[in-house]
Amino acid sequence: MKRSKIVLAYSGGLDTSVALRWLRDTREADIYCVIVDVGQREELASIARRAMQIGAADVLIEDARDDFAREFVFPMLRANARYEGAYLMGSCIARPLIARRQVECARRLGADALAHGATGKGNDQIRFELTYAALAPDLQVIAPWRIWDLRTRLDLIAYARDHSIPITMGSDGGDPMSIDQNLMHTSYEGHLLEDPSCQPPDDMFLHVPDVGNTPDDGELVTITIAGGDARAVNGTELSPREALETLNRLGERHGIGRCDMVESRILGMKSRNVYETPGATILHAARRAAEGLCLDKEVLFLQEELMPRYARMVYHGLWFSPERQVLQVAFDKAQEAVNATIIMRLRKGIVDVVERHAAGGLYHKELASFDDRNYRHGDAEGYLRLAGLRLRLWARSRAGSLGGR
Ligand code: ARG
Repeated sequence: MKRSKIVLAYSGGLDTSVALRWLRDTREADIYCVIVDVGQREELASIARRAMQIGAADVLIEDARDDFAREFVFPMLRANARYEGAYLMGSCIARPLIARRQVECARRLGADALAHGATGKGNDQIRFELTYAALAPDLQVIAPWRIWDLRTRLDLIAYARDHSIPITMGSDGGDPMSIDQNLMHTSYEGHLLEDPSCQPPDDMFLHVPDVGNTPDDGELVTITIAGGDARAVNGTELSPREALETLNRLGERHGIGRCDMVESRILGMKSRNVYETPGATILHAARRAAEGLCLDKEVLFLQEELMPRYARMVYHGLWFSPERQVLQVAFDKAQEAVNATIIMRLRKGIVDVVERHAAGGLYHKELASFDDRNYRHGDAEGYLRLAGLRLRLWARSRAGSLGGR
């Protein structure tokens, strides 16, 4: 009988390493590991060696950094998406891409099943599996965390030790923190952070330093935005990936983009996460400044109403859903008008917009000023007479009913 093939999304962390060994030992199958490079700044070749050592039949390394920036991060930024007012969703947006690459590898290998190392409590399982549902409804899905009888990360550590699986321990020798990194952000969760009253240790932050250790002098950065996307930084044209990389470097130098928050997970529990999102924080601010000059008032208003719904879809793993795609078309259409150059000062964790330039924008100096030449102040009277009509009627009826009592 032909042995079946399982394609596992492998990161080299504790969960996926244990999942790999557990799948190999419990299934009559060859386990293929896919490592998707989304800019996690890790040594992927050594992660691949680790997978082979644990028992993978083969490892595929997929460089998806350009796709990630161009097809996922930039479209999401066009919607100004933030979840619960703060989270720029760096982890949410990587999952559909990783899952899509995994499906592509499964097709190439003629595999039967897809597997991931996400827990049964978290958001990532949902993002992986809703992507599988949308792109590969015919493939079987295996989620080891929902099957095995390991209950905690400490159980996983013990399993790893028993099976000589190499893992990185926490600094105190205990449960390691769960870190998720890509071109857009670094997220920290678990361990010490599980107590929301506990401050993150300063040595936790991998990329964005405390503002006590950033230069006193700020730095100006010029971002050119075309069709809502960053096209150039300081006058140099860049691809979406290069723009993110460049802005990450600048943001990291100035302590920009830390965010410590408690968020509502998809399944309802609250979870405390700390994020570092340097480049995208700068880009988000630049885009908002450009929209201020270029977007029609009602379009802006509509965008602001639709954004939380869009953000919810992305957070909830619905990137490949018809509803997200419908909203995307609306955002993309609106963003055609967003063309501007924004100059910002980065200093001590703060992004300040200091100059805005938009040749074809909606801002007209002569209209905004108190100059009378192109505007008749008297015109506002008619507007106020009509806008106030129903309020006067309402006030009169109230006075009448109160008087009649
Ligand atoms: N709570 C965040 C989210 O759901 C971060 C998840 C990070 N994932 C991880 N495996 N550490 O988007």
